[in-house]
Amino acid sequence: MKNLIIIFVSFFALQGAFAETAPTAPARDLKAIMKDMGPKFKVLGPQIVDPRKNPESAKLIQELGVLARESLTVRPPKIATLPAAEQRASELRYLRMILELNLQTVDAEEALAANNQAAAIEAVKQMGNLRGEGHDEFRE
Ligand code: HEM
Repeated sequence: MKNLIIIFVSFFALQGAFAETAPTAPARDLKAIMKDMGPKFKVLGPQIVDPRKNPESAKLIQELGVLARESLTVRPPKIATLPAAEQRASELRYLRMILELNLQTVDAEEALAANNQAAAIEAVKQMGNLRGEGHDEFRE
């Protein structure tokens, strides 16, 4: 009977182990996501003042929004190097900044749709500020 229980338990333990190594789409790390963000923001920053470029700007903002949402699924590697007691608070600060970045992409797209150039410029400026804050705190 004892052997049966051991076999039974091992069976489910092994199933668990295999379940964890089952092939899933590998998530991209933050570096790869940020690498995609860089050139888009580089184009958006200077051109957001030019209303003639608004269709292209709206597309870039949408693409940055997709990347900002992907950034919610990962964490900067630096967090794992902090003392254990500080990691959760740091993770929450990261999440807050990335959520804010997401909101600014929504604000910027809405502003363009409403032909409010000043508001779109302000949202893109805030995105740049968040980039500065995020890089100061989380880049190694
Ligand atoms: C418009 C906003 C942003 C842009 C355009 C941007 C762009 C970039 C670029 C170009 C890199 C370098 C990637 C490489 O190594 O080739 C980078 C790295 C990084 N960014 Fe951002 N970023 C933005 C916002 C943020 C925010 C808000 C945070 C954090 C809350 C953040 C956190 C990081 C971190 C941690 C790295 C280093 C990743 C690593 O090497 O593991 N970024 N970013």
